[in-house]
Amino acid sequence: MREWIVAGNWKMHNTIQESIALAKAIKDGIASVKKGEVIIAPPYTALASVSETIKGSRVSLAAQNMFYEDKGAYTGEIAPGMLKDIGCAYVLIGHSERRKYYHEQDNDVNLKVKKALSVGLKPIMCVGETDEERVKGITRDVVGRQVKQGLAGVDKIDNVVIAYEPVWAIGTGKVATSAQAQEVHAFIRGILKDLYGSAANDIRILYGGSVTKDNIGELIGMEDIDGALVGGASLKPDGFLGIIQKISEKK
Ligand code: 13P
Repeated sequence: MREWIVAGNWKMHNTIQESIALAKAIKDGIASVKKGEVIIAPPYTALASVSETIKGSRVSLAAQNMFYEDKGAYTGEIAPGMLKDIGCAYVLIGHSERRKYYHEQDNDVNLKVKKALSVGLKPIMCVGETDEERVKGITRDVVGRQVKQGLAGVDKIDNVVIAYEPVWAIGTGKVATSAQAQEVHAFIRGILKDLYGSAANDIRILYGGSVTKDNIGELIGMEDIDGALVGGASLKPDGFLGIIQKISEKK
């Protein structure tokens, strides 16, 4: 049985004080939820404070990105060991905003996934097609390529989480239908089965893109949807806790 995950990607939002307050509200709000995994990804500047705030709770810490070298003259970059040091258990890799604005390629994603695993960080590898690609009918080509190239040379998949985030659904309010999402999730699981055999049955595949407490109920009912990666709705305790509540009732 796969344990569900709800992960909040705060993107470039929240001061240190705002982050502490939000983290505390989430920590307190999930006290009665006994299963599943809750992950929050604050901006780098708040990682240390949030790490302290959630210490000893069931909330795990994630970073939103990392570099693939251990150290060196890479001004502005953050090394995986630094994230471990600050208390991160997870790291988002290859988010579509990284791919779009910072031109991250599948090869960069692959280097980051391998490096994260090598230091004991669990990568949440993000994949997803653009609107144009979906209209062209090449969703499977794009997502298939991102999954295969992102995982090239990764021989143990246990600590990897995949997030399917159709780019057209991110921040648009245009959520994928549960059927559309399940179709791609099942496709991804099929690729993982080809690559890793039965280990693929234990890999969590999250859906992301305009998830709210009002639409998560239907998505989470689908066989291959194991949780959510949430942007906008993770910035308010009410919205994020509402999603966690809905998932914990259904999975
Ligand atoms: P929204 O939930 O705001 O659409 O963002 C999704 C996302 O990009 C999470 O990583």
